[in-house]
Amino acid sequence: MTLNLVEPPVKKSREMKRFLFVFSQNHPDFRIPELLSVCDLFGIEIDKKWIENDKTHLYVMEFDSEDPVKKILSRTALLRNVFEIIFDSEDLDSLEKKMKENPQIFDSFNEEHLSWRFKFRRQGKKTTDEEFVEMRERFTEVMTNVKAPVDLKNPKIEFSLIEDLSTLPETDRRVYFGITLGEGQLNLKTMYNLKDRKYIGNSTMDPELAFIQSNLVQARPNTVLLDPFCGTGGLLIPAAHFGSTVVGTEINYLVARGEGKSARKGEGFLTKDQTVFGNFEQYNLKEKYCDVIIGDASRHGVWRENLRFEAISADPPYGIREKGRKVGNKERKEHWTLPGSVHEQHFPEKTKYDLNQVYLDLMDLAASKLAINGRLAFWFPVIRDTYSEDVLPRHEALELISNCEQVLTSKGSRRLLTFKKLREPKEDEKSYVIEDSYEKTTFRQKLQGKMANARPVTLFDGLGIGRYMMKAGAPGPHVLKKVAVMMKEATEKVMSETIESDGSLLQYGTPNGPPEFLDALASFLSAEYREPVNRENLVLSAGATSGLVYLLTQIFPQKTTVYTEKLTYFLAVGMLKSLEFPICGVNIESDGIDLKELETRWSEAFSVEDVKKAKEENRFLAVLYLVPHYQNPTGTELSPEKCQKLVKLARKYSILIFCDDVYNILHYNDKVNRRLFAYDNVRDPDYGIGHVISNGTFSKLLSPGLRLGWIELPLELKRKYWSQSWILISGGSINTYTASIVTELLKNGEVSKLVKEIRLENKTKMETVLEILREELPKEFKIWHIPSGGYFVYILLPENLNSEEVVKFFKEKHDLLVNGGENFWAGLSDDEDKGRLANGIRLAIAYPLLDELIEGSRIFCRGLKEMVGK
Ligand SMILES: C[S@@+](CC[C@H](N)C(=O)[O-])C[C@H]1O[C@@H](n2cnc3c(N)ncnc32)[C@H](O)[C@@H]1O
Repeated sequence: MTLNLVEPPVKKSREMKRFLFVFSQNHPDFRIPELLSVCDLFGIEIDKKWIENDKTHLYVMEFDSEDPVKKILSRTALLRNVFEIIFDSEDLDSLEKKMKENPQIFDSFNEEHLSWRFKFRRQGKKTTDEEFVEMRERFTEVMTNVKAPVDLKNPKIEFSLIEDLSTLPETDRRVYFGITLGEGQLNLKTMYNLKDRKYIGNSTMDPELAFIQSNLVQARPNTVLLDPFCGTGGLLIPAAHFGSTVVGTEINYLVARGEGKSARKGEGFLTKDQTVFGNFEQYNLKEKYCDVIIGDASRHGVWRENLRFEAISADPPYGIREKGRKVGNKERKEHWTLPGSVHEQHFPEKTKYDLNQVYLDLMDLAASKLAINGRLAFWFPVIRDTYSEDVLPRHEALELISNCEQVLTSKGSRRLLTFKKLREPKEDEKSYVIEDSYEKTTFRQKLQGKMANARPVTLFDGLGIGRYMMKAGAPGPHVLKKVAVMMKEATEKVMSETIESDGSLLQYGTPNGPPEFLDALASFLSAEYREPVNRENLVLSAGATSGLVYLLTQIFPQKTTVYTEKLTYFLAVGMLKSLEFPICGVNIESDGIDLKELETRWSEAFSVEDVKKAKEENRFLAVLYLVPHYQNPTGTELSPEKCQKLVKLARKYSILIFCDDVYNILHYNDKVNRRLFAYDNVRDPDYGIGHVISNGTFSKLLSPGLRLGWIELPLELKRKYWSQSWILISGGSINTYTASIVTELLKNGEVSKLVKEIRLENKTKMETVLEILREELPKEFKIWHIPSGGYFVYILLPENLNSEEVVKFFKEKHDLLVNGGENFWAGLSDDEDKGRLANGIRLAIAYPLLDELIEGSRIFCRGLKEMVGK
């Protein structure tokens, strides 16, 4: 977000009142630019300091009266409420104390003709009914001298208690007690929703964004606004609502006139009143409608020389749903003309309209046809990785006022650019761009990575990247970029040292891994697990997958049965099957694997004799594969009781437990689940040679491309299958180079710092997704478990839906990728539990950005509603 703020800040005087502005959490990048534009429209000055923090949606501002606040409320689409602050404090207790000490503040509310009610508005976490009652009782008790009657329906005054649990950093959070002053224009998106709009097209602008855009161009009475690419009029309607007279141009005759097939599925042909004008009639805005001209936006000559618009607002075609077209002759081909005849030209004929030219023409149009101080706002697509301001179109007569990003996918976004006309353009002064990023490829090609010789680079490129990536169990590009910076610095340092030394870092390493890495790893894990991790139990691996495969194939060359939960990490199941390990699925409960069933199976499979012999020979009879905590896909945690029992059971039947402990460190609530390995105490009399292996990875803590992990294993197993392994003696330690670079980051605390950030990000994301699911999922859908860490939440579908069809529906219809429960099924195909357990959807939160997740989750809930016929 780039801003031009009003200077100088307002001077503080004694009479200043303080107001709390609470914004919607939608479209955070647009919040402040919209506010500033509205303030500029009304001549209201804003102090930069009030709006500095972009990790909050609550802002305190000071004005000498309510008047400017009411003006802001009357226009701002992303503003939820404003409160006049009476008290504020660091926490509820100190707020209560302040209120008790100042009861006289409420004297002015003793009038009989007044009425009031109390509201508790917690930000960042839902309030239960019990919590609301508790707060109401606690805080209304303080207001004993408010004698006006309570009126819950139509009170004259609403006292609000606002507890902020969302602002970052946490030290900036406060609690407020105040009077609700009013609501912003959040309801406009509902009033003008597309579902009820008579005429819409495939690319009709989303009403909320359209209102924001109208605010950015300051649509208002006694002005004329032009949308040169007006389509169905999605940008004209909100401008008209704010009082502008509006005019559009549209090259497509059918769209402009509302003819042909409706864009709504199953609606057939458009009826007479399904037109742009019909929409204006529907919303009672007829007087504001000037016309929609069927014409080409690139032909600026259609406008009278001295005609000026106060605003130009547009969503030009950028080749995803709507192609750019302009009037012109196509290249003629010989076979179009019969021999001996002259080819007749048909006008108007349309040719391709190059993406970059679309924007340059639009800037030129604005430079010549806007009134001075008039505003131009339009959407501009960018590739996020390569974006810089150099790709934006420029014109010396236009000043860029704001630049807000709406993330569309991990690769692409669109930016709403707002310009102000400073002066009339000089002769021959034209718009230009420093770097034409669309010269050789279209935006669609760039977005889809379909450049001439493009080959898949990541696993996800091969498997498909959706607009909403709620399928991938991996950190997103935003985390990887941070890791790239960290690795760059550490690499430079470590390699400089290597050059100065004997270069041993690049030699064959010892099988267990570089000693310094193991030291640093043990300290890191001890701090994260909050109990000592013995360095002697650790070895370096190339990530959890290779750790599992390597050890299993080493310990069980003749294969053995692998027991696992019936729903489990699908790629582990695939891998084990491909290695021809027989798999046996065990029931899963809300706190992990069903131990009763497990014991029954083991007691049936292994005789007392088998067990005795195996123990004498230090051999294992089978393997249990588990993701004990924040399980994949269900998010469950294995309870401490179950952990204890499980270790006992493994010892009793001589079973080796392989734990994928890949999410343990990623808890949300500062509570660490002990890994199972810690329960297998070497001092216990029945310890034997140990029964648990903990498989860890930096794939989720740093990035998967590093191929770096560790295994924590009993000493006897380490000696036999790792330190003395011929494979590792021949090849040397796995991944010495990366381990040595990461050692640096473990030692200087960078890994811990990033892990903290990831935890916080995941917590916010998961809580947001859960809140949307709780509010918007129909009751037929059940969330399996509310996760308190990790990446996943699993939703069980009602019987009349099928997970595979749901996955397909979201992929094809919404470009939303999720994972179906079938994939995680490790039981038999005719198991009667399958319908109950596998008919679900796993949502993963790590990869997308928060904005994408919010949009994706809403689409998911809406889609499911549609599918169950609500
Ligand atoms: C992304 S859509 C705009 C949608 C519109 N904002 C709405 O809410 O319906 C772009 C529109 O520009 C039109 N268009 C493409 N090239 C054009 C041109 N040269 N002149 C005018 N309109 C054009 C397309 O037919 C399409 O309807």
